[in-house]
Amino acid sequence: MRSLLLLAAVGLAAAETGIDGWLRYAPVPNANASGLPINIVSLNATANGPVHAAASELQKGLSGIFNHSLNVIYPTSYQLSDTASSIVVGTVAEYANAFGAAPKTPQLENDGYFLNTTGSRVQILGRNERGALYGAFQYLSMLAQGNFSEVAYTSNPDAPIRWVNQWDNLDGSIERGYGGPSIFFSNGTVKINSLDRMTQYARLLASIGVNAIVVNNVNANASILTTQNVEGLGKIADTFRPYGVRVGISLNFASPTANLVYGNLSTFDPLDSEVIDWWQNVTDTLYARIPDMAGYLVKANSEGQPGPLTYNRTLAEGANLFANALEPHGGILVFRAFVYDSQHLNESVWTQDRANAAVEFFTGLDGKFAENALVQIKYGPIDFQVREPASPLFAYLRNTSTAIELEVTQEYLGQQNHLVYLPPLWKTVLDFDLRANHSKSLVRDIISGERFNRPMGGYAAVVNVGTNNTWLGSHLSMSNLYGYGRLAWDPTSDPQAILQDWIRLTFGLDPAVMRAITNMSMASWPAYENYTGNLGIQTLTDILYTHYGPNPQSQDNNPWGQWTRADHDSIGMDRTVANGTGFAGQYPDEVAAVYENISTTPDNLLLWFHHVNYTTRLHSGETVIQHFYNAHYAGAETAQTFPTQWEALQGKVDAQRYNETLFRLTYQAGHSIVWRDAINNFYHNLSGIADAQGRVGNHPHRIEAETMNLTNYERYTVSPFETASNVTAIVTSANATTGTASTRLTVQNGTYNVAVNYYDLYGGKAQYTLTIGGRQVGAWSGNNEDRLGNTPSIYLDGHSATRITFRNVTIRRGDVLEVTGKADGVEPAPLDYISILPLGVVD
Ligand code: GCU
Repeated sequence: MRSLLLLAAVGLAAAETGIDGWLRYAPVPNANASGLPINIVSLNATANGPVHAAASELQKGLSGIFNHSLNVIYPTSYQLSDTASSIVVGTVAEYANAFGAAPKTPQLENDGYFLNTTGSRVQILGRNERGALYGAFQYLSMLAQGNFSEVAYTSNPDAPIRWVNQWDNLDGSIERGYGGPSIFFSNGTVKINSLDRMTQYARLLASIGVNAIVVNNVNANASILTTQNVEGLGKIADTFRPYGVRVGISLNFASPTANLVYGNLSTFDPLDSEVIDWWQNVTDTLYARIPDMAGYLVKANSEGQPGPLTYNRTLAEGANLFANALEPHGGILVFRAFVYDSQHLNESVWTQDRANAAVEFFTGLDGKFAENALVQIKYGPIDFQVREPASPLFAYLRNTSTAIELEVTQEYLGQQNHLVYLPPLWKTVLDFDLRANHSKSLVRDIISGERFNRPMGGYAAVVNVGTNNTWLGSHLSMSNLYGYGRLAWDPTSDPQAILQDWIRLTFGLDPAVMRAITNMSMASWPAYENYTGNLGIQTLTDILYTHYGPNPQSQDNNPWGQWTRADHDSIGMDRTVANGTGFAGQYPDEVAAVYENISTTPDNLLLWFHHVNYTTRLHSGETVIQHFYNAHYAGAETAQTFPTQWEALQGKVDAQRYNETLFRLTYQAGHSIVWRDAINNFYHNLSGIADAQGRVGNHPHRIEAETMNLTNYERYTVSPFETASNVTAIVTSANATTGTASTRLTVQNGTYNVAVNYYDLYGGKAQYTLTIGGRQVGAWSGNNEDRLGNTPSIYLDGHSATRITFRNVTIRRGDVLEVTGKADGVEPAPLDYISILPLGVVD
């Protein structure tokens, strides 16, 4: 009781798991219920429709924010007198019915809302029910942020398609998911007994204007179509429907040959009449259960997936097979532009280039897609890298509807263990002017349909939430999901303003909280780019394994085509028309000219478009190699500030979210140093060019583990070499479980931070203790697999490399430092080095 009172006194909420995301409806300090209307009036009668959901959301939200409960009066029972002091929510048509006159709702479009709080009757009106629900969420968002001003305005979405994609597999795993297993599937079927998480997800999505969800992986399994799964999908759709979120599914192109209930065919040729009938039958069956199904998403002829090219049919013919089946039902076929040949690309051929693939594969197909088909294009030509130019396909397809594909799940961007706020990255593409026909052609105006007069278009984001209470695996990553919805609604919004709305809704109104999370988040993408891959060289992660830690070598000499072409003297992809792969020429003339010419190419895309010497000078005046070194030091330095910025919020954020976030930010600070050193070592070694500031390869505060006195520990050569300090680590000897490494310290008496770099493999939880002068400084376990949500590594490498820091340790000259490592399972308590750091120094 005492502690409860104490908590209340300091205004701190009890521990929060993160499950409510930004829909917490926490009490707002200056909220005064006396100004609130008396009732909530729900105008529309659709059972379980979005207007009903809006009314109950308003009731829930107001009770949280104002600690005051309002009645909801439903259409069957309200009287006009009930509406005098009320929040009236519904469609414009129902409003006109109820009040005998159409409301004044300027320029209201589908899914748009009109919000008017100026009178005693708050009006929340939509052209359709979904719009009314969006208006209700917007009203609650204002109030939850302590904004009680009077407003009257219309808000319409910029584009009709605002979808999310989940890459969930039927066995419950999620491709590139870092927030636990699927909320939708397990053991091959839909989790029909746990619909609660789906309802909560639907609320979150609706509150940011998302209107459809594709629930299964684009690398699709045909058994999504079994009778049992169609019924399960029906249950998912029933769960999402009240929130105006329609359900779609990903299809495997070869499904007709998969021996499902609809008959087994010997072909999946899209022009074969039996195949056409087969898909019509499947589609009719799905619509019988889900009459408002959003449509299909298809990945074909890419990364091993089957597709129309097998039968020499075009991608458009493949897409139209499904579009035609969907057409009578009003469904949309989304065809992914992510088509490339991952088997035969050959780096030794200078002109080969994966970036060319999309435009090449779609050449001649513009205008050949059915009207209800949409081509979904990843923002850049390669694959969700830390920086890419806008895909030229946006400008190539002018008689075809298109959508942009973004990735909320941070596959190449730290897998939710690194804070990386993505909307600023997305904005670089959305705001890019492709200059089609020498006129303004912003990517955002192309995908909205406006630029080329298309009837539809919009946005998709790969999200991959899981059963983790934080949804994505990390509290701070949720700003990316929130930001996605807000940008899809209005791509002209300012990423920082979006972020700050999210901060207020997620963490409350404390200005210190606002300041710290704004600073960290806005600094995060530039920092991540700095300590991973600069100048347009891409993320430099391990593209053959988990796409997480550093491994620049893995980019080259394989058919995946994410090449850097780095050798001893030079680096970068020559994508010019004059000497290279010709990719620059895929852009409209004005843009092509900018990228063709090294002097007009921006520094941050230099190595994307040009192959240059390490000694080439940038516009900034630095050489390429010195920029690499400097940027990696600068990026890691920024990340070092995150834990301390967060620590200033202790007591201002509830303990659970505070601690979980501190763990991740601390981990990120350590892993950014792993990145910094690996990339710098790699290019230092390759180029032989010294760092002008003498930092690279020079670590005066480090004690390499292999130089210590070892008992039951032995040296181990790490691969890739650059992911160990001095190439070498130590592991416990094969026949021993506990090893010790010790050394006598020669530093002056004083207070130091002590950093330990070790490797945390999955498949074991090694135990470590560190003592100095006989005093225990720390004890920890190699249990990242339980604490981080990403796919860890079973090797000593850049994914498993981890750094832990003990602060303010008193050391006397001559003290013995000793690490004891106890192996567990396949994890041999690996250790790389120890840094004895004077306060303020990072090494
Ligand atoms: C990336 C990702 C794959 C995914 C593919 C896609 O390559 O690593 O897991 O299947 O994109 O978008 O289809």
